[in-house]
Amino acid sequence: MIQQIRNLIPKPVKRFLRYWVTYPFFRLSLWRNVRYDQKRFRTWSSADGRPDQKIQLRSWINADYHKIEKALALRKPRPGFGTAVVLRLLENLELFQQQYGYDEICLIALNTLNNYLAFNEAQDHSDPRLSKRIEALLAATTAEALKSTGGGTIEIQRETIHQKSKLDLREFFASRHSIRQFAPDSVSRELLEQAVRMAQKTPTVCNRQSPKVYAYDEPSDRKRVIGCQRGNGGFGHEIPLILVVTSDVQTFFAVGERNQCWIDGGLFAMSLVYALHSLGLGAICLNWSVEKHFDQELHEVADIPASEAVIMMIGVGHLPDKLTVAQSCRKPLEEVLHYPKTSREPQLP
Ligand SMILES: Cc1cc2nc3c(=O)[nH]c(=O)nc-3n(C[C@H](O)[C@H](O)[C@H](O)COP(=O)(O)O)c2cc1C
Repeated sequence: MIQQIRNLIPKPVKRFLRYWVTYPFFRLSLWRNVRYDQKRFRTWSSADGRPDQKIQLRSWINADYHKIEKALALRKPRPGFGTAVVLRLLENLELFQQQYGYDEICLIALNTLNNYLAFNEAQDHSDPRLSKRIEALLAATTAEALKSTGGGTIEIQRETIHQKSKLDLREFFASRHSIRQFAPDSVSRELLEQAVRMAQKTPTVCNRQSPKVYAYDEPSDRKRVIGCQRGNGGFGHEIPLILVVTSDVQTFFAVGERNQCWIDGGLFAMSLVYALHSLGLGAICLNWSVEKHFDQELHEVADIPASEAVIMMIGVGHLPDKLTVAQSCRKPLEEVLHYPKTSREPQLP
């Protein structure tokens, strides 16, 4: 009977009705999920201007020292530049030192401040107020500790960059495939650590380095973690190492950065995939575009802090001697690369 009534309704009317029945559910689900992302950002970022967690304070220090090294790397830095940034950095370093003692980021910041002092002195532009506070902070550590890290700028020759980057990457890029067949051998921690170290060179906003990697190689852990993901049917059980790439929202401190975790995390994940490829391993990105309840489940199962957004999983393993991969053909270049005309027609005088 119901079927008969259904058959009587014309198709466009059916489509119209279906749309308006599902639309409120879509709006509700979108609202809930946006609120979920918003709550994480509100709770864990310091966009409210109060970096009261250790990682948040560290992130301000990180961003500010990097602002100084960036300015020092300009062709002609302005003598005495960035006083407001330097003052904020000094205040945050003093606070951090009192509360937690110096860590590596603080040492990098101190080296950068040292460079800043040296630059200004060389330009006959010393500010005794700043020098005094910087020297007091430097006195709380040792020359040896400062030497153990970097910070500031370095001079580099074009020839050095060219020598080290002269590789034909076309073959390298073309030979990476998403791998869905793995050899049973486990992946050593040395290889994984090498790949993550390589991926750490990925650029991040103000060098704040929000991305993190969680590695699961025990069979029961792997099973639990991969069990939360929906796109590994038929091969998930073969993956010897599951990685979860996350991005720590505590490193962000402005509303404009509300989507930055996906950008920094996505760039990092890509580098990691290429690093694994360069080490002869196979890898597959595993989607984590999910709704709130799946995300909460993974955080719990994989023991990931609530302050971190999950970017994606990556399945990793050694390659079997012979395997089949999807061709995954790419769009024509013209669909991707555009040369838009940005200006209006030139006005004739
Ligand atoms: C963020 C992201 C999520 C992905 N998720 C899945 C997934 O869940 N399952 C899967 O089989 N492939 C997944 N892939 C792999 C894509 O299907 C694959 O990268 C694309 O087809 C291009 O193929 P190629 O990597 O072999 O060049 C994902 C890729 C990316 C970048």
